[in-house]
Amino acid sequence: MKNILIAPSTDPCAVKDLTKYVKELEEAGADLIHCDIMDGKFVPRRTYDYMILAFIKKSTKLKLDVHLMVQNPVNVAKDYVRYGADRIIIHYEAFPDKIQLVGAIQAIKKLGVEVGVAINPKTPVKVLDSILKYVDLVLVMSVEPGQSGQKFIKDSLIKIAYLNKKRVEEGLDFLIEVDGGINSINAPIIAVSGADILVSGSAIYNAEDRAAIIKEIHGDALV
Ligand code: DX5
Ligand code: ZN
Repeated sequence: MKNILIAPSTDPCAVKDLTKYVKELEEAGADLIHCDIMDGKFVPRRTYDYMILAFIKKSTKLKLDVHLMVQNPVNVAKDYVRYGADRIIIHYEAFPDKIQLVGAIQAIKKLGVEVGVAINPKTPVKVLDSILKYVDLVLVMSVEPGQSGQKFIKDSLIKIAYLNKKRVEEGLDFLIEVDGGINSINAPIIAVSGADILVSGSAIYNAEDRAAIIKEIHGDALV
């Protein structure tokens, strides 16, 4: 069985507790940290910015995935890279057309980080067909972006399976990350569908034993 990576999301945690939480996640066995950045425009809520990311960076050796739910991701990407992002994830829906999306991917890659593209639940996965060769990762949103604690949208499994088939057929090596509503019950089917990285916010944040829940989502109990 392939190794699934667990990326706890920072979203459910209050900003003042973030560095403590991230340290705890590292000790609890997280593989990387998924940093949810919202600007109050692309999605209604605002979270934190690159200055807070700098503190997160100092508190952990884990890699930081930065999920930019913002209106103009290219304008801010360099600040997030400067302050600690290892991978920048931008939204397909943040661009008026594919030419500008590919331009953004290439511009962010030049900053020296990996780049991922995210798609919202209502966006058909096929829109990414011509984009897949440019990205290091696809983030399948399995809830509407903007809020942790929502229910996993089952149709996301079809998108994951499609992407998994496509990368084999086309010999591509992008990773498939899935974000939203993931817990220890639905993690196995998401992993089997082809996901490489599972993001989990509230299931981990609300667990009494965070190391145990990370282990369960990881599937260690099954092998
Ligand atoms: C949603 C965020 C997710 C979310 C995950 O806008 O991108 O990362 O916070 O949280 P859960 O696992 O609670 O859905
Ligand atoms: Zn996210």
